[in-house]
Amino acid sequence: MDALKQNARAWDKKVDDGAVYTEPVSKEEIERSRAGDWHISLTAIKKVPREWFPRTLDGLKILCLAAGGGQQAPVLAAAGADVTVVDLSAKQLEQDKAVAEREGLQLNTIQGSMSDLPFFEDEYFDMIVHPVANLFVENLSPVWKEASRVLKDKGVLLSGFTNPFLFIFDDEEDMKGNLVVKNSIPSSSLDGLTEEEVIRYLEAGHTIEFGHTLENQIQGQIDEGFVIAGMYEDDFGGSRPLDKFIKCFIATKAVKMKIYD
Ligand SMILES: C[S@@+](CC[C@H](N)C(=O)[O-])C[C@H]1O[C@@H](n2cnc3c(N)ncnc32)[C@H](O)[C@@H]1O
Repeated sequence: MDALKQNARAWDKKVDDGAVYTEPVSKEEIERSRAGDWHISLTAIKKVPREWFPRTLDGLKILCLAAGGGQQAPVLAAAGADVTVVDLSAKQLEQDKAVAEREGLQLNTIQGSMSDLPFFEDEYFDMIVHPVANLFVENLSPVWKEASRVLKDKGVLLSGFTNPFLFIFDDEEDMKGNLVVKNSIPSSSLDGLTEEEVIRYLEAGHTIEFGHTLENQIQGQIDEGFVIAGMYEDDFGGSRPLDKFIKCFIATKAVKMKIYD
């Protein structure tokens, strides 16, 4: 089973289905961004605090990592940044290209995995914007390692990720409003499935998702030379039963910097 291939196909299908997280921003949003009134999200609902960004984005080299879909990248480009977006799904990248073409924006798009960024030299970017996506890779350590490698000294990594709590419940029961504890963390969508069930799951075009520990999410960044400089939590905006009990998304601001020589 190749999680990358499955998730690339699954995200292409989400675009065809018009699923959430695949809808590009409107013309009006780009106009507002051009005028300096811009916002992006790393999670589902909340906007990233403006003070997590420098005063001006003009010329700032930003990598939007696993961020296709026509949202963060075109907004940041319209706000003046020099933006590159990397995503596994060709169709998610098409959404970014379509907005760029519609609005006359300069945007660099690359199809690839967040875990492996050989097309970038060391210390190239000022900032990485990495919305919730690392649930689609089994191993987080290469993601943080590559992020650290391609960022300049004092470069900033803004990440959204899931609280592992989200993954301990039976997914089907959760959708019906019942919270039934089923999985242990770390988890995979394929845990506990028979061979036949795995085949059916993959053929249905579902994404393969991994529930990571908070240690791998937070200490994982610190291990690669980041200092955590901010965090907040977010939820699904009331659309999931769990929202009544806990916020299932976390966003962090991390700065690449050496504390000791
Ligand atoms: C929830 S969306 C996040 C981006 C979207 N702009 C948003 O804000 O909702 C997750 C994205 O991760 C991408 N993705 C999944 N696995 C990936 C991987 N291994 N490397 C790069 N991108 C990946 C998907 O194609 C999808 O565009």
